[in-house]
Amino acid sequence: MTQSLHAGCQCVGESGHQGLCQRTAPVMDKIRDSDLIGSIAAERPELICVFERFGLDYCCHGDRTLAGACEYRGVSTGEVLEAIRNFGASAVDAPSRVWADATMTELADHIEQTHHAYAKEAFVRLEDLSREVVAAHAVHHPELLLLAERLAALADDMRDHMVREERVLFPWLRRLERRSEITSSPPWSVRRPIECMEHDHDGVAKSFARISESCGGYSAPSDACGKYRFMLKLLRDLEQDTHIHIHKENNILFPAGVRAEAVKAARTFADGGHDH
Ligand SMILES: [Fe+2]
Ligand SMILES: [Fe+2]
Repeated sequence: MTQSLHAGCQCVGESGHQGLCQRTAPVMDKIRDSDLIGSIAAERPELICVFERFGLDYCCHGDRTLAGACEYRGVSTGEVLEAIRNFGASAVDAPSRVWADATMTELADHIEQTHHAYAKEAFVRLEDLSREVVAAHAVHHPELLLLAERLAALADDMRDHMVREERVLFPWLRRLERRSEITSSPPWSVRRPIECMEHDHDGVAKSFARISESCGGYSAPSDACGKYRFMLKLLRDLEQDTHIHIHKENNILFPAGVRAEAVKAARTFADGGHDH
């Protein structure tokens, strides 16, 4: 586990890519409102902070243009482009690895070791916290009962989803890029499990929206104790980390899997049907 539950901004919390911003500043002016927001996030992960600040969806709907994402959210595209330009001018030390350059094996390993590990630990903490907070505060804040119910449903869904990625899809993706391995491919395309995972991601995003709605956008009431406040902070952090987690899968890992399958199929065809 490389992330702390007490970590601050998850957007820039990854290490290992020092020096990125030296090449970041000059290209900020080249970002256009017609660029896909998921592609911008993949190639310029340091800008995820800006997208989070404006509440733009760069993960589940990364196939929207920047202008389309702004329009959907009801924010000014000009303001976002201005923030991107200012970020480029001011960012001097925002280490974020460009995962678009990684192999599928590296990225799947990274997702399991960071985002999955973080989410699993966060859910254990959140379930304990919500039990205690409900017991202490539900009399004056009955909305906590709904929050706890929605949290439990999300935890079940995400745990099940991560298990299916770890046991089925990620091993499949790792096999696709091991050229020398002799394997018999399943009789269906990798697109099938990918579409299932993307469908789950949409459901997770909706669940977080419902959770946020049931606690006023994670804002603590004036009589909330420290535990209550920490629970809301942890929920907010988990939602933000999940945006980045889904972005890496939907916009980087899964498209790489589809491309690798096409390459492998072409190679198999050229070799006369022998997979190797
Ligand atoms: Fe995942
Ligand atoms: Fe996923």
